[in-house]
Amino acid sequence: MLRYFTSGESHGEALVAFISGLPAGLEVDVAYVDRELWRRQQGYGRGGRMKIERDAAHVLSGVHHGKTIGSPISILLENKDWKNWQEALPVETGDPAKHKRVASPRPGHADLAGALKYNFSEARYVLERASARESAARVAIGGLAKLFLREIGVEVLSHVTRVGEAELSDEVKWEKIRALWEKEEVLLNCADADAEQRMKAEVDRALRIGDSVGGVFEVVAHGVPPGLGTYAQWDERLDGLLAGAVMSLQAVKAVEIGSGIQAAGAMGSTVHDEIGYNDGAFTRARNNAGGIEGGVSNGEEIRVRGYLKPISTLRRPLGSVDFATREPVKAAYERSDVCVVPAAGVAAEAMVALTLAKCALEKFGGDSMVETKRNFEGYKEQLRKF
Ligand SMILES: Cc1cc2nc3c(=O)[nH]c(=O)nc-3n(C[C@H](O)[C@H](O)[C@H](O)COP(=O)(O)O)c2cc1C
Repeated sequence: MLRYFTSGESHGEALVAFISGLPAGLEVDVAYVDRELWRRQQGYGRGGRMKIERDAAHVLSGVHHGKTIGSPISILLENKDWKNWQEALPVETGDPAKHKRVASPRPGHADLAGALKYNFSEARYVLERASARESAARVAIGGLAKLFLREIGVEVLSHVTRVGEAELSDEVKWEKIRALWEKEEVLLNCADADAEQRMKAEVDRALRIGDSVGGVFEVVAHGVPPGLGTYAQWDERLDGLLAGAVMSLQAVKAVEIGSGIQAAGAMGSTVHDEIGYNDGAFTRARNNAGGIEGGVSNGEEIRVRGYLKPISTLRRPLGSVDFATREPVKAAYERSDVCVVPAAGVAAEAMVALTLAKCALEKFGGDSMVETKRNFEGYKEQLRKF
């Protein structure tokens, strides 16, 4: 069974991600994982932190001579900023005077809910873990899940369809999304140059007025075989698993599969994807279902969209209350991004890849890649003969 966890605080010494259940014999290209980490750090509208960090995966266990050995894998990502925080966030008791209190909870962050829950008198420890710095750890193990999926012909990438009010409404073909991955400079990871400029203008507007913007990314999984997930039990449905995985990302507030949101207001005949048969294969004229019907992948591309709220930390902070005095104050401000839609898309790719890898391993099993691929080839043969 594929299982994964992350640990680490935003300004702690390091993040650590764990993944267990990957078969032995999977080739691990650490440079590929590092490029995924780099992609998460890109995008117009990111803050100063991204200039400090340049994430690199330090594999601690489970990979030897370039291949997985079937045992749990742990990956460490150093926090370069740690050197500036050692006295503020020591592991030992340290000097309480050096602690950097977050005196007034920021609306839209976990600050207040977390302080109430864990009985903290201020929000420092809350934001340290609730911060989306954690998503870097997911991207690291998501990179391994992507390498595994490649072995069975599946690729997972994302692109941005909306920033603030600037939107790209046309469907974007896989080849264009693939071409975005090749780019060495990421602006807003949008496949249409004109829409990207409009998106950039939205970020500029937010920057000018000390505000923030959200948006929408779409994750596309290409080459997914039919039959991942099942309708047989509610918690094994692929749409539910993907929705949970993408929604678990910081700032994602809605998830859509295929044309789900638009479909809610349309007539059924315009929504459902008619089935044909050509050249020995079932075909679809369109993919409004986003590649999933009845909680099962149907062989079409899986398309999952994540809707991001605007970043909560504002240069012109909203009203809050001082934790100690309960007097009204402006919310605390800490260095922040203004727009993170492209980065959130990369983190969502990781969550989609991890979810698909888990489902694929449940379907095909195998303790080694040889076994997994043999089982996969057997299934493909079964589909050919169907
Ligand atoms: C890649 C990424 C980077 C983020 N960077 C910031 C940031 O710099 N400042 C901020 O206020 N929120 C940022 N967020 C969002 C917050 O982490 C998130 O809104 C907050 O933890 C509250 O969680 P919730 O929005 O899921 O309720 C980021 C989110 C993602 C996905």
